[in-house]
Amino acid sequence: MEPSPHRPHRLLRRLARVGLVRPRPDKPVDELDDGYFEWEQGTAAGVWEYYARFLPADQQGLLVIDVASGPGGRTLAHASKSEARFVALDQDRVALRSTLSKAGRENLNCLVADAYRLPFATGSVDVVLCENAMEHFDDPQAAVAEMSRVLKLGGLLLMVFPPWRAPYAGHLGYMTRWPWIHLLPAETLSSLLEAMVYEREGPSAWQRTRARGRAGLGSHLNRIPLQVLLDGIRQQPFELVGSYLVPEWGLGRILRFVPAFGEAFSSAVYLALRRSAAPSSSRWTLRTLQIQTLFHRKVRPDTAVTIGASAPRVPSS
Ligand SMILES: C[S@@+](CC[C@H](N)C(=O)[O-])C[C@H]1O[C@@H](n2cnc3c(N)ncnc32)[C@H](O)[C@@H]1O
Repeated sequence: MEPSPHRPHRLLRRLARVGLVRPRPDKPVDELDDGYFEWEQGTAAGVWEYYARFLPADQQGLLVIDVASGPGGRTLAHASKSEARFVALDQDRVALRSTLSKAGRENLNCLVADAYRLPFATGSVDVVLCENAMEHFDDPQAAVAEMSRVLKLGGLLLMVFPPWRAPYAGHLGYMTRWPWIHLLPAETLSSLLEAMVYEREGPSAWQRTRARGRAGLGSHLNRIPLQVLLDGIRQQPFELVGSYLVPEWGLGRILRFVPAFGEAFSSAVYLALRRSAAPSSSRWTLRTLQIQTLFHRKVRPDTAVTIGASAPRVPSS
């Protein structure tokens, strides 16, 4: 399609009009929006109950760090269900700003820190949480190596993330609800998203978005498919003690168990990893997760956060 300096191609604009959605009012787009913290809290419904099956009944005194917690809404939801001590940790000082004031709990603190250099001594942490962040790390394997360093032997790494081929793993829900659109070739996706900006915000916003290049249009994600991610995590000293594929739509309840469709019909993957002395000798595959999901289905964690914290801010000038 011939690029024009004045407007996107007609076909692109038509497609863009069909694909555009307004963000749902109950889903704040950005971490800094009013209500994001409370919305985040809601997304954790049922999750601590799922994690608790891997934890001791008496959690008093356990140290739990939530790596890349964002504003910490989910950390607070977990902390309110446990006697453990929680630390919400994120590199973004602004996102964490209101965590403590909103939390009002003695067992929750927050810390501005980098996931690749956790300010904790080796072998000092009981539980590491890492929720909806793996897809954002440039080097998830290095981040997991750092999480394994701080964990005690026998400690737990509990994570959840949208697998790359999940319908909405592109974090583009602020713009469109077309599933799997993020799997389009980068150039095509970019042109289509730019056309959506044109249709929604007009020619000058479109020009500004184009001038900034692809930054902000989903490009902050590492685009690592599930199996590659699993193979990377398995290099670290962990045993996979549990996993759960969260279904996308009613159809996903069945299709998440079909080998070719498992990743594409799961909105999120929960992994429970126990820190061991050496890396696991067996390979973890989608099949492993599917079998574990069958046996773990009685407690259902809620879906992952695949919208928000990613909408590009179009500068006003
Ligand atoms: C989508 S938010 C997830 C927030 C929260 N865990 C949740 O589930 O709602 C991803 C967060 O990862 C954080 N992040 C990305 N890279 C990081 C790093 N290297 N160190 C610490 N935080 C990081 C971002 O600042 C952002 O707040």
